[in-house]
Amino acid sequence: MPSAPSAITFDATLGLAVLRTPNSVYALRIGADGSPRHVHWGPVLDPRGLPHPHSPADSSFEDEAAADELGVQSGARFGPAGLQVRFPDGTSGAQWRFLGHRVDGGELRLRLADRGYPLTAELCYRVHPDSDVIERWTELTHTAAPGDDFGPITVHRLDSASWTAPPLPDARLSHLVGGWSSEFQLHRDRLPVAETVLTSRRGLTGHHASPWLALDDGTATEERGDVWSTALAWSGSWRITVHRDPVGRTTWTGGFGHEGLSWSLRPGETLRTPVFAGLHTPDGFGGASRAWHHHVRTRVLPEPDRDRPVLYNSWEATGFDVDQEGQCRLAGLAAGLGAELFVLDDGWFGARTGDHAGLGDWTPRPEAFPDGLRPLADHVHGLGMAFGLWVEPEMVNADSDLYRAHPDWVLHSPTRDATELRHQLVLDLSRPEVEDAVRTTLDRLVGENAVDWLKWDANRPFTEAGRAGHPDPDRVWIDHTRAVHRIMDRLRADHPGLRIEACAGGGGRVDLAVLARTDQAWTSDNTDPVDRIAIQHGFGQLLPAQSMAAWVTDSPNGLTGRATPLRFRFHVAMAGALGLGGDLTRWRPEELAEAARLVAEYKRIRPLVQHGLQHRLTGPDGLTAVHYAAADDSEHAVLVWRPTTRFGHRPAPLRLPALHAAARYRDPETGRVYDGALLRHCGLDPDLPPGDYASRLIRLHRAG
Ligand code: GLA
Repeated sequence: MPSAPSAITFDATLGLAVLRTPNSVYALRIGADGSPRHVHWGPVLDPRGLPHPHSPADSSFEDEAAADELGVQSGARFGPAGLQVRFPDGTSGAQWRFLGHRVDGGELRLRLADRGYPLTAELCYRVHPDSDVIERWTELTHTAAPGDDFGPITVHRLDSASWTAPPLPDARLSHLVGGWSSEFQLHRDRLPVAETVLTSRRGLTGHHASPWLALDDGTATEERGDVWSTALAWSGSWRITVHRDPVGRTTWTGGFGHEGLSWSLRPGETLRTPVFAGLHTPDGFGGASRAWHHHVRTRVLPEPDRDRPVLYNSWEATGFDVDQEGQCRLAGLAAGLGAELFVLDDGWFGARTGDHAGLGDWTPRPEAFPDGLRPLADHVHGLGMAFGLWVEPEMVNADSDLYRAHPDWVLHSPTRDATELRHQLVLDLSRPEVEDAVRTTLDRLVGENAVDWLKWDANRPFTEAGRAGHPDPDRVWIDHTRAVHRIMDRLRADHPGLRIEACAGGGGRVDLAVLARTDQAWTSDNTDPVDRIAIQHGFGQLLPAQSMAAWVTDSPNGLTGRATPLRFRFHVAMAGALGLGGDLTRWRPEELAEAARLVAEYKRIRPLVQHGLQHRLTGPDGLTAVHYAAADDSEHAVLVWRPTTRFGHRPAPLRLPALHAAARYRDPETGRVYDGALLRHCGLDPDLPPGDYASRLIRLHRAG
């Protein structure tokens, strides 16, 4: 429970800035050398009593990680630098003079100027009245006037923020790793006394790593313990370097771009970084996730209060083999099951009969849709569903009219072989004419075909990025991503009813920046429910269930070959924004009937899953259970999955610590009434059927 609203104070005598959030305090001091240095981030206390942070010059071989608010390449600082610059005369690094601060409502800005060169940095902080999340970013300005005789400043690194945790002798790092079809695997490892780099060098957020991490002292659990976690809002390449020193201090610095890139800052220009948000919570990993979910719902997602529709997507059913008749048939079956949105996936445009051709030519394939897409859109609308369309706007096949007309529009280097991945190349959206062409094409597609939903895909990373002869060739790594964001923002503004699903070969571009302009993300191309349990467990560390698309597909699963019961597949997918993705023409009548019943059941618990509080009870290995609670405690849903039975043992009762001890709860299915105290402390028998792939949905209503 929040104990006080957020506030920011700056004590000029002490040079001490204090950011107070409802349950935490963040404090920094302006050091004698003009650099803002970290003092405290954690439980509420009076930071005035805390000692000044050490200065890096205190000893000639200082090993302690410098607790800078933004680590700078400067003097006796040898740790990972969040700001690295080189001036036209060859001098590198910055030496700050503190210019002053500004507090404006929930925002604090610290203004720093280099002592010898026309460079200023503003370190920016934002707090919100109802949240412990602190948003931070940096603005770097070349202060020479454009006409002055001062050349561009080369920026080798510009991080959004550096963070410092208190000494944690057994520091543990939680982070997400994986690959295509195995995204968001949660790893919880002891942090070595070393620099640990989490990064993407791909131009996309990445399947293999996510720009989120959590730190604890090695003892935190789902329910208890201090956790410091941070998330970067950026959808391109990024890097976070965590530095644990031998004394036990852990700092980390992060921002956009990967190592080796550099940007040119011209006179008069400001480079603004993405937001790197941080959160301290004393309530364990579960508490941290719920606080992040709250942040994402209140400050990130554009339409958090809208129910995510139950969608049907044709990809696993028809692949590239799409046509009007087949899609109309699937749409009819999907509507019969209770789907609210029908999404036509890949294969509908240009010469797209496989993945070798057509990307870039966003006009319906005449053999498949002789009268365009409108008849299908009208049919889908007539069935009472919204109409969605798959697009991959940043990409082009070499075998496409667009590429033949504009071969120079792709990322390429005239002296290097072009790397084709999935037979495709990346359009260089940092070129204004390309951004404009992509935006206009999408605008036309949406407008002409009554499209309610776009699934925006990106099926390959960048290669050969950086135009030969361009004065600032690496700028494409920032500008392409910004163009993607801009196009999404503009489309939403111009088509207020339009919803967008983020996708990049599954969960390859999922982050707080893409979710600020999309409604949900396609979590993974792996729809096997057993694998999904682990994927969903990782996804939910930062992001709420309403943003996690989860489909029920065919059995055996097309990727893994595993056969699982329909009910199990549904129960796993019900933990997010439910979708259907199987070939419904091959489902038996009794399967269709069961599916319709399960869709209806999902709709009953949808408000809890999509808008309630999520508590991970167990998992993701063995028996896994997730509890979704209405904020007002009126209703609860618990999803339980057991992929394999072991030794014939009955599972232990599931404790439900989120329930109120003094309340009573009724199971609407059985009519049984339970004491809250009993469910909290002794638990509820999940009463799973025998055998593998057992699952259950348990509902509880508050009964007084
Ligand atoms: C990617 C997506 C899939 C599907 C295919 C179509 O892999 O993640 O869901 O849309 O592209 O080619």
